[in-house]
Amino acid sequence: TVYDCSILYLPKIENRAGNITPLENMKSVPFEIKRIYYLYDVPGGESRGGHAHKQLHQLIVAASGSFDVLIDDGHNKKVITLSRPYLGLHIIPGIWRELINFSSGSICLVLASEYYDENDYIRNYSDFIIYKKKGSK
Ligand code: TYD
Repeated sequence: TVYDCSILYLPKIENRAGNITPLENMKSVPFEIKRIYYLYDVPGGESRGGHAHKQLHQLIVAASGSFDVLIDDGHNKKVITLSRPYLGLHIIPGIWRELINFSSGSICLVLASEYYDENDYIRNYSDFIIYKKKGSK
């Protein structure tokens, strides 16, 4: 459920000259990282996501700026604002997500447990609801 998607406090090494957040496989990140990507230059008012994944785990970080993540398990919905580079939202498989309200210049860093695979996506919301109903039987 959406309540199994947790906010993780990532390591933060503070220094007067700036901070570092290191992310290590299976340590600060609760899955094997196979892929990293980042989303940037999102025009004002645009949204991203609008899909679910069947197997993929993701850790989403606002590496710069802020945005809101809407998560939905087909039953409950939650909105999480990410605005700190030391916070990560762990999205488990089977969760519909939308990313909205990107601040200007924001960077959405995503660590993912699998290589890119279009077959892992559910891109239609009514297909997602059908998929969730099948799973709960
Ligand atoms: P998509 O995951 O739908 O973007 P978002 O959820 O951010 O709106 O991906 C958009 C396009 O980019 C789609 O054609 C697939 C491609 N893509 C890759 O080729 N590799 C990747 O790792 C990702 C995340 C996307």
